[in-house]
Amino acid sequence: MRELMIHLHESSPKYKQIYLSIRLLIENKELQPNTKLPSIRQLAEILHVSRNTTLVAYEQLLAEGYIRSEQKRGYFVETFESVDIHTPTLHAEKYISEETNIKVDFRAGSVDQHAFPLKAWKQCVNEVSKDGIVYMYGEQQGDRLLREKIALYLLQSRGIRTSADSIVIGSSTQQLLMNLSFILKKEYSSIAVENPGYDGARAVFHLNGFQINPIEVKEKGLCMKQLEHTDSKLVYITPSHQFPTGVTLPIAERLKILKWAHSQNGYIIEDDYDSEFRYQQQPIPALLSIQQEARVIYISTFSKAFLPSIRLSYMVLPSELLDQYHQQFATFEQTASSIHQRTMARFMERGHWDSHIRKMRATYKRKMHALVSSLNFSFGNAISIIGPQSGLYILIQLQSSDSEERLIQLASDLGVKVYPTSHLFIGNHPQEPMLQLGFSNLSIDEIQQGVQLLKKAWMIN
Ligand SMILES: Cc1ncc(COP(=O)(O)O)c(C=O)c1O
Repeated sequence: MRELMIHLHESSPKYKQIYLSIRLLIENKELQPNTKLPSIRQLAEILHVSRNTTLVAYEQLLAEGYIRSEQKRGYFVETFESVDIHTPTLHAEKYISEETNIKVDFRAGSVDQHAFPLKAWKQCVNEVSKDGIVYMYGEQQGDRLLREKIALYLLQSRGIRTSADSIVIGSSTQQLLMNLSFILKKEYSSIAVENPGYDGARAVFHLNGFQINPIEVKEKGLCMKQLEHTDSKLVYITPSHQFPTGVTLPIAERLKILKWAHSQNGYIIEDDYDSEFRYQQQPIPALLSIQQEARVIYISTFSKAFLPSIRLSYMVLPSELLDQYHQQFATFEQTASSIHQRTMARFMERGHWDSHIRKMRATYKRKMHALVSSLNFSFGNAISIIGPQSGLYILIQLQSSDSEERLIQLASDLGVKVYPTSHLFIGNHPQEPMLQLGFSNLSIDEIQQGVQLLKKAWMIN
C-alpha cells in the first residue's frame, strides 16, 4: 500500500511517528473512509519495525476513533466529519525542538568538517570556473577528465583495471542503482541481498519490482550456501566492509561468489562505499580486481571518503551492460553537477585527493581508537563492539533488557543521538539491541563526552 510507506526517523518513538503519519493521511483524506489498512503484521514488515510498535500505533488510532477494527476483517479508516482539524506538524516543529538539545550526535553519514581541505578545494573551484566546460551540460556519461582520474585511482588503490569509457558517473549510489536496475530487470526478476544490509539499495530494487532474497551475513560474510539455494542470479554485496556488520569477505568466499556469478550468467553488484578506511591493514583489493572478465558491476561514492553533499558516485560497467546503458540512457542528461565533477577531477590531478585520503585515514583511526577505548573503559563486558577495524562507524551490542527504541530514547534524553540497526534486517533482528555509532564529524573530546553520557543514560555499572 503506497500511502503507508511512512518515512521513519530516529528523533522520536516509532509508534508515535506511525500513529501521526496515519492520522495525517486520514485527516487530509489521502486515506479515504472505509479504506482497509494493512494488518499489524503487514505494516510491521513494510516499515521494518516490531509488531508491537504497529500495534501500539493502531491502538492509539482506535482509541481516538480514526480507525475501526472489524472482526476477522481487519482495520478500516473510520467515517467522520472533518471540520478544521488541527494537523500535527510531523517533521518540522515538533522534532526540531528535540534536535536542539542534542550535545553529541553519533551520526554515521557525515565527514570531518574541520579536516575538509577547503583551501585546496577553493583553488580548484576558482580554476574550474574559468573552464568553458562548466558552462555547458557536460557529458552524458560524466566528465571525461574525472572518469580518467577515477580509473587511475581504481588501479592504484583498488587493483581494478578499467578505463574512462567503462565508468559512469551519477549523483548518488541509489541513482546509479536505479539506472542499473532498469537495465537488469529486463533479464533478471530477483536479486539476493545481504541481511542485514543497506536498506537504501534494497529500496531501489523493491521499487523496480525485483523479488528480494535476503541472505544471511555470518562471520565470513555472505552465506554462500543460502545464495546457491535461491533462484537469484544477481546479488548486491558490500564485500570490503559489509554494511552494517563490518565483515570483510575472505578471499575463499570471494572466489566462490565470482565462480557462482559465472556459472549463473548473473552479476555481482559490488558496493565499495568506504573501502579507503582500514585501520589495521592496507585496503584490500576489490572483487572486480581478482578476475579478468569478472561478472561484477563495481559501484563507489565520494560521500564517505570526501563529502556527502557533493553527490558524486560512479560505477564500472561490464561491456555488455555498457552497451545497454548507452542504448537506454542516450537521451538522458548527466545528473551530477558538471562543476563538481570537473573540480573533483582537478583536485585529484593536483594530488590533493591522495593526501586527503592519507590524512583522513590517520584522523579517523585516532577517532575510532578513542571511541573503542572509551566504550571498553565505560562498559567493559556489558558491550560488544562490532567492526572496529575499518569504516566510519561501529555497531555496539548491549547486554540489556531494554529495546533498541528505548535505548535510543534514553540516550536522546541526555542529549546523545545513537542510531538503530533493526531496519537493516529483513525479518528477525538480534534479540540484544544493536546500535550504530558514527564518529567522523566528532572531536575526540566529543566522542569521550558522548560515551560518558551514554553510560549515564543506560546506567550500566
Ligand atoms: C552501503 C552504502 N552504499 C552507499 C551509500 C551511499 O552512497 P551515496 O551517498 O553515493 O548515495 C551508503 C550510505 O550510507 C551505504 O551505506
